[in-house]
Amino acid sequence: MKSLIVYASQSGNTRKLATAVYDSLEGEKELCAIDQAPSGDLAYDLVAVGFWLQAGKPDPKTEAFLKACRTTAKMFFFATHGAAKGSDHARGAMEYAVSLVNGATVIGTYSCQGEVNPKVLEKIKQKDAPPPWLHEADDAVGHPDDQDIAELKAALKKAL
Ligand SMILES: Cc1cc2nc3c(=O)[nH]c(=O)nc-3n(C[C@H](O)[C@H](O)[C@H](O)COP(=O)(O)O)c2cc1C
Repeated sequence: MKSLIVYASQSGNTRKLATAVYDSLEGEKELCAIDQAPSGDLAYDLVAVGFWLQAGKPDPKTEAFLKACRTTAKMFFFATHGAAKGSDHARGAMEYAVSLVNGATVIGTYSCQGEVNPKVLEKIKQKDAPPPWLHEADDAVGHPDDQDIAELKAALKKAL
């Protein structure tokens, strides 16, 4: 099996998941930060894409990558976010990500909390209309943790 793992990560949380996905996969595999990701037709058996949530959506680089993505590969998506795991906010963002890939088959998804950069959090707290996930972000400290990684690996294994 030939796999490509593409990830976007500003503060390292999603990169942790990407590394775990890479380590879990057998066969020929490439791990690529989004800025180095190949474009156009992606000739792989599996393309795994990891992103962080910004403004309730995949980060802009991943959004652009998914919109441009053309592949017959199976796809697996993973993400980190300040919002609670399984929250409507997190689920909605993942559903939106899945809707962006034209005709590709998404075989599974996984997302968990990722610690929010404290400076960013402070700034967001000062806003007149703080985002709905803000009150959940304190629980994101320390994530992704070992259990998140174990759950990600299980989700990937199940999907494959
Ligand atoms: C500018 C900015 C906007 C964010 N917006 C959201 C958001 O809309 N929803 C959310 O759940 N988390 C949001 N977060 C939290 C990040 O998605 C979360 O901390 C994530 O784990 C960061 O991943 P990374 O370390 O791979 O960059 C935001 C963080 C930043 C810095």
